[in-house]
Amino acid sequence: MPQIDPAILSIINELEELRHTRDDHWQIPRIEGEMLHHIALSSQAKCIVEIGTSYGFSGLWWGAALKLTGGQLHTIDRDRKKYDSSRLTFDRAGLTGTIVSHLGDAREVIAKIEGPIDLAFIDADKPACRAYFDLIWPRLRRGGSIITDNATTHREELAEYIAYVRSVPNAGSCEVAVGNGIEWTIKLE
Ligand SMILES: C[S@@+](CC[C@H](N)C(=O)[O-])C[C@H]1O[C@@H](n2cnc3c(N)ncnc32)[C@H](O)[C@@H]1O
Repeated sequence: MPQIDPAILSIINELEELRHTRDDHWQIPRIEGEMLHHIALSSQAKCIVEIGTSYGFSGLWWGAALKLTGGQLHTIDRDRKKYDSSRLTFDRAGLTGTIVSHLGDAREVIAKIEGPIDLAFIDADKPACRAYFDLIWPRLRRGGSIITDNATTHREELAEYIAYVRSVPNAGSCEVAVGNGIEWTIKLE
């Protein structure tokens, strides 16, 4: 279990409970949140972009790490209810300055985020994964990562996309089967 700011941890626990009362949270499992937190810390990420905020569960794990690295999360969702709810959640967790919430279609918002991007997390509609990847890739720093959720749970649906990211010439990519399973793509030389 990573060491998490107690104020953030109590909100993480709250959202974990709300998982049972919301049928549209689609949030990552807790163990995956712990792993993302570690990845952000180990890479000392300063600029993280998240596509798919939902109610803010994954954002809290990123935010806890970024509070330590002094960086910022840009998280995007097109659902007004989730945008409003997650903003309130981030405020209550003391992450107002750490997390910038964007309301809109990720395809339009990504271009407006100032790079370079250290880490990106793609966790939205699956058919658009390649479009998100192609928008982020040129703005990702060398050594940076794009992490795509649901590599294990949506293996068939993501097969074409996974083959695509593994074919990118300066990319190293592999699956890590923790939680929903992620495809972890690193930008090489
Ligand atoms: C799987 S949920 C995100 C879960 C969140 N990452 C977590 O673990 O707590 C996917 C979210 O992506 C949002 N979404 C889907 N397509 C989008 C798009 N084109 N632009 C922005 N948000 C989008 C949905 O509204 C939904 O809330």
